[in-house]
Amino acid sequence: MESKKNFKFDKRAESYDDGFEGKVSQKFYDLVIKNVVVSNEMNVLDVGCGTGTILYRLKEMYSFNGYGIDVEEKMLEQARLKCPDMDIRLCSCDDTPFNEDQFDIIIACMAYHHFPDKDSFSRETARILKKGGILYIADPKLPLPIRKVLNRALDIHKINGRIFTSNEVADNFSNFGFECVFDKSDVYAQIICLKKI
Ligand SMILES: C[S@@+](CC[C@H](N)C(=O)[O-])C[C@H]1O[C@@H](n2cnc3c(N)ncnc32)[C@H](O)[C@@H]1O
Repeated sequence: MESKKNFKFDKRAESYDDGFEGKVSQKFYDLVIKNVVVSNEMNVLDVGCGTGTILYRLKEMYSFNGYGIDVEEKMLEQARLKCPDMDIRLCSCDDTPFNEDQFDIIIACMAYHHFPDKDSFSRETARILKKGGILYIADPKLPLPIRKVLNRALDIHKINGRIFTSNEVADNFSNFGFECVFDKSDVYAQIICLKKI
């Protein structure tokens, strides 16, 4: 695969939550919190967990075993401060140390569009999610002209990133044994709920 640059978050990890990205992310956090349902003692993994806001907010509502992974150590330091009782690890979405069928729920909030190889992520998710387990992808929803321009700019500058429609996300995952349960959106944010069948 052609090598591309990643967005870098580490330099602004300490100010991420209070800065522009943290504020823009509120819509995505709210959509996740409104739609994700967790039962007691479930194993829940947040992929690309960043500073751990999703895990922290879910923990305010539910009791569960929380796991987070990310490729940026400074983001993970913030996540560990916020979620000291959770298993927070440095690793990539497509090569995790987890067991087969380990998770009941996997979430990727504002992270899927950054993942370098969507097929490898789908394959790894299918491996570590239980049968009947649920994957939630919360990502930007942009009108076609903006999406086209942004995706083209990312290609030209060789930056890892691509914004998909909910249908494209569902199609990507259908090749790996997932079916779409629902997709919902709110202004510029969307959430796609997929079940491993
Ligand atoms: C926009 S931030 C979102 C962070 C967090 N999910 C949130 O909503 O606040 C995207 C995160 O995805 C992480 N990321 C990018 N590529 C990744 C990969 N290959 N595996 C795991 N995490 C990745 C980044 O390091 C970053 O922390």
